[in-house]
Amino acid sequence: MESEKKGQGVMTKTNIGVFFGSRAAEHDVSIVSGLQLLENIDKTKYDAYPVYVSRAGGWYVGDPLNDIKTYRRFDPSARGITEVYLPPVPGKRGLYGMDVGGFFKKGGGLVRSLDCAVLAFHGMHGEDGTMQGLFELCDIPYTSVGVTGAGVGMDKIIMKAVFKSMGLPVLESAYFYRSRWQREPDAVLREAKALGYPLFVKPANLGSSIGISKAVDLDTLKNAIEVAASYDRRILVERGVNSPREINCAGLGYYDRCLPSVCEQPASMDAFLSFEDKYTRGGKGDGMQSLKRQIPAPIDEATTKRIQDMTADIFKMLECKGVVRIDYIIDEDDGTVYVNEINTIPGSFAFYLYEPMGIKYSALIDKLIAYAFAAREEKLQSVFAFDSELLQKVALGGAGLKSGKTTGKI
Ligand SMILES: Nc1ncnc2c1ncn2[C@@H]1O[C@H](COP(=O)(O)OP(=O)(O)O)[C@@H](O)[C@H]1O
Ligand SMILES: [Mg+2]
Repeated sequence: MESEKKGQGVMTKTNIGVFFGSRAAEHDVSIVSGLQLLENIDKTKYDAYPVYVSRAGGWYVGDPLNDIKTYRRFDPSARGITEVYLPPVPGKRGLYGMDVGGFFKKGGGLVRSLDCAVLAFHGMHGEDGTMQGLFELCDIPYTSVGVTGAGVGMDKIIMKAVFKSMGLPVLESAYFYRSRWQREPDAVLREAKALGYPLFVKPANLGSSIGISKAVDLDTLKNAIEVAASYDRRILVERGVNSPREINCAGLGYYDRCLPSVCEQPASMDAFLSFEDKYTRGGKGDGMQSLKRQIPAPIDEATTKRIQDMTADIFKMLECKGVVRIDYIIDEDDGTVYVNEINTIPGSFAFYLYEPMGIKYSALIDKLIAYAFAAREEKLQSVFAFDSELLQKVALGGAGLKSGKTTGKI
């Protein structure tokens, strides 16, 4: 087992599990982000190891997981790979083994100690608050935004509502449930069309351009909605910008203290980046790094400052910690800047936006981990267990709650 391999001296290092994969459309991109982080983490400070969550949702540790080739045809029964689980209770601080047949091992079974989880997930079941919730239950420090911010950041409909409530500029939009589209398609089309073509149709909960299409007339609109509806129960239709210039800005910090990054203009050759464009352009297999982006973005100082200020405001509102990336669209026709979306676990942890500011990737990782520990400490300082005398006073009768004289009310 991994833990038995440790030599003397190694034990004093912080045990960092780097988690990636998961049941998400962005499973593969997440593997790249996770392995890239493992290459850059300071090995003199941390005992860092990969924790792979498979497409089926199983959790695995083991040396072969450091090699990207392992994922081409993942075999959970391959030599050196151990299936583990994390008990959802505080104090366990580790990944435990399973017995043959998938039963939890009796009497221990610790495979790897876990002091802090670095979350390198993108998309569902990882970036959306679900994993964050598990680590909250365990009281294990984790990098990334907390449950609420992660959930809001993953849902394009709610995210927009929050941005709007902050007075930030967002593109007009409408949303509807898939069931309504099936019930009354004509009404949905009418509402969508009213926003004016071109339109962007997006599933509420995906990323990496998956399920997103541009509609320029009724036919393409119907088609775009069908595509989005195959991916999600909730669909956002948004007014499209004809001559968009995309600008991204990362935020690094801890709640109300945010250091915005330099701005980048990502590689948006056309009006619309497809998944292929984003991750495989360049064809050399080096993923996100092969993209041609302009850093700093070729925009004036005042616009840069405005974008950086909005980034810090959003960072604070969504209770962010660690590193996030906020994407903006500038309408080149009139110069208006719109907030498009937040990525609470950005690809490659947006390290390339802090490097030009003199923050090395390894130093960025140090900060993510430090914030993770700080957040856990802060959480434990709050009083969150309040003992009432309710249980002493209440008796449950057949008809429901009876509390003293006021039956049925507490
Ligand atoms: N309203 C819009 N007008 C013009 N282009 C858009 C609009 N919305 C999205 N896009 C384009 O589509 C891409 C993907 O949309 P986005 O909302 O960022 O979703 P994802 O979460 O998949 O990244 C953007 O990077 C941008 O190129
Ligand atoms: Mg995007």
